[in-house]
Amino acid sequence: VTEAVVLVGGMGTRLRPLTLTTPKPMLPVAGAPLLEHLLARLRAAGVERVVLATSYRPEVFTEHFGTGTSIGLDLDYVTEVEPLGTAGAIRNVADRLRGGPDEPVLVVNGDVLSGHDLAAQLALHRDREADVTLHLTEVADARAYGCVPTDEAGRVTAFLEKMAEPVTNQVNAGCYVFRRSVIDAIPAGRVVSVERETFPGLLAAGRLVAGYVEVAYWLDLGTPAALVRGSADLVLGAVASPALPGGAGQALVLRGAVTEGATLSGGTVVGPGATVSPGARVSGSLLMAGARVGPDAVVTDSVVARDSRVGAGCVLVDAVVGDRARVGAGNELRAGLRVWCDAVLPDAAVRFSSDA
Ligand code: GTP
Repeated sequence: VTEAVVLVGGMGTRLRPLTLTTPKPMLPVAGAPLLEHLLARLRAAGVERVVLATSYRPEVFTEHFGTGTSIGLDLDYVTEVEPLGTAGAIRNVADRLRGGPDEPVLVVNGDVLSGHDLAAQLALHRDREADVTLHLTEVADARAYGCVPTDEAGRVTAFLEKMAEPVTNQVNAGCYVFRRSVIDAIPAGRVVSVERETFPGLLAAGRLVAGYVEVAYWLDLGTPAALVRGSADLVLGAVASPALPGGAGQALVLRGAVTEGATLSGGTVVGPGATVSPGARVSGSLLMAGARVGPDAVVTDSVVARDSRVGAGCVLVDAVVGDRARVGAGNELRAGLRVWCDAVLPDAAVRFSSDA
């Protein structure tokens, strides 16, 4: 049985107000919670058993997935009393793993959307008999990341903190294969970070940390802009997901949604029971269940969360409207603006330009 651990305990602060009630991995993107797309990919790669390492709002996960039968997985949950960091969270689920000391365990961040070949990463780990095998990807500008150089043999040589002039564009993509015994050796009961403590410790001890380099679709859905981008890319088919309802296309209109006379494009999702009025144009945006967009509104690269309303003629670009918020007619919301849950904006209250 191939086993995986998914880290889903983060508070998702950069995505507030969307994550005030829903943990980041449970936010609906492209017709299913982000985590469901990820679990479907794990299952397609041959994973049969998954342990979710939860911390923030654990009940949201169990209520949705239960024992995992509906998605063909054996799902188990472990909740940290205090968040233990990435490695601490992995160590904390060790007694739920069933494989022997040398068996591989896939470990993935619950908020990364990746199109890389999981089976190939697992195969490399087995071939190399590595202690840990990391998926490494290449980014155009590595300054915002810690970078991970490898030698000619594909061995990781260092874990470098963010720097002004990175020595390589290779970065940690947040998907690992661990030898089971390496997980058991992480100190229990305290905060431990994989990047800062566990991996550098393995290198110092002369253990084999292998790099699986593949430049595939890769996006960390940690910010509103990335969430919207990832959702649209799933809908457009730029990254494949077995959990995408129906085929890829310009828009995904979910059950009970009404969109007659509206123009939908760029991988827009119209959530269950949501309404887009005639004359409205919605592009690359994520409208969640029960959201309503008024006539002639223009919504681009934005999130309109559950049961919220955007009034007639509004312009939204890179904006977030929280759950149940009401944005009156004729408002102009741009540039990362976030309307908090339940907030009420009167008609024509906010603009970014003059009304001339
Ligand atoms: P921000 O607060 O916006 O930075 O988001 P985050 O809390 O999710 O942090 P980050 O994006 O760095 O986390 C990367 C991954 O690790 C996510 O999948 C988190 O759910 C997970 N994670 C982070 N810290 C913990 C932790 O202490 N315990 C567990 N179980 N998971 C964690």
